[in-house]
Amino acid sequence: MTRYPRISDLQKRAYRRLPPFVGAYLFSGTSQNQARDESLSDYASIKLVPRFMRGRVETNLSRHFMGTDFAAPFSVAPIGLSSLIWPGSEIALAKAAAKAGYGYALSTVAGASVEQIGPLAGDKGFFQLYAPNDRAVAIDLMRRAKEAGFTKLILTTDVPAPSRREEMRLAGAPIGSRSEASPTMRVMMQSARHPSWSLAALAHGGRFRFHNLEPYAPPEMLKNITQYIGSQINGALTWDYLDELRAMWDGPMLLKGPLHYDDCKRALDAGLDGLVLSNHGGRQLDCAPSPISQLPKLREQLGSDVTLAIDSGMRSGLDMARAIALGADFCFLGRAFLIGVAALGTKGAHHVGDILMDELSNTMIQLGVETIDELAKVDSRHLF
Ligand SMILES: Cc1cc2nc3c(=O)[nH]c(=O)nc-3n(C[C@H](O)[C@H](O)[C@H](O)COP(=O)(O)O)c2cc1C
Repeated sequence: MTRYPRISDLQKRAYRRLPPFVGAYLFSGTSQNQARDESLSDYASIKLVPRFMRGRVETNLSRHFMGTDFAAPFSVAPIGLSSLIWPGSEIALAKAAAKAGYGYALSTVAGASVEQIGPLAGDKGFFQLYAPNDRAVAIDLMRRAKEAGFTKLILTTDVPAPSRREEMRLAGAPIGSRSEASPTMRVMMQSARHPSWSLAALAHGGRFRFHNLEPYAPPEMLKNITQYIGSQINGALTWDYLDELRAMWDGPMLLKGPLHYDDCKRALDAGLDGLVLSNHGGRQLDCAPSPISQLPKLREQLGSDVTLAIDSGMRSGLDMARAIALGADFCFLGRAFLIGVAALGTKGAHHVGDILMDELSNTMIQLGVETIDELAKVDSRHLF
């Protein structure tokens, strides 16, 4: 806590340790980064009004969400290629989350498999599905996730196709089908100048793998696995397919990414158990509204009984308190956790959880509330 008391302190170190092509993958949004930046800055405009004279305030951060008791109202969001950002990060983050009692969501396109992470994440794990075009692949992936111990599914809707990711191009990141080709000289030079990242990559085998989807790729496509993955997941999801997937998965299921009332309503009518309001961290559509700015209106329109989680733009326990006060039941944080592992390796995974819990608890004490339910009723103001 002394040297890196905030995520922003870790971010400076993460930035230095990552090769630019990796840093661009983690930090960038799309186009002019407006959706990414507004998703962050909208939090700063939320004011919470404290109440005093309550004596000693003892906080309890626990939250019941999707049938599970969490020690705190948050989870690591699903991050594809986490192991590229920092080698081994899926395992480090899943272990840290299980130890502290918050959630961990594994991406379909993570570097670790459902079989590796399911037993580590335990009952607090979520499996995130990018619906594959091939129904047989979807069925088998869900079967494997279930058998590995995942009970909760997150279906992501907000990636109809990859976005342009201009900053990755500028940083020389291999994009799309070129990623399996031998690394470019620029990538090699960047890696050589960032020895902590390169050594960590070497210690983890030196090559990125898509363990969840590789088993389904025809042998001739294994050399170009990202092309196979793109052919499976780009543009695959429709409302009819969502109905099919709902029928295939017999546990709690969340839709991640809706921002429009009609999409939220349609998903709930299809029997989904809740929604994660998200703009994918501002990575897909630069004019998308920030999820936090949509939250008060959607909460009012959908009613208090609907389960609403949120992500995009939270970097602190204070931001989570703001989201909960505006109507969120639960929070997912993506970059904050990867910043932690990029800055400090395995220790960073634990450190980010500690920071978030301590900040949330302290915010609640300053506000004069002891539980997350009380936090949800705090008097709030916002400028959006
Ligand atoms: C590097 C990176 C990779 C991501 N990969 C996925 C993914 O595979 N699946 C998914 O549903 N969301 C993915 N997301 C979106 C996150 O789950 C989450 O919506 C976003 O990070 C929230 O914003 P934040 O980073 O500001 O917390 C990714 C985000 C980042 C930054």
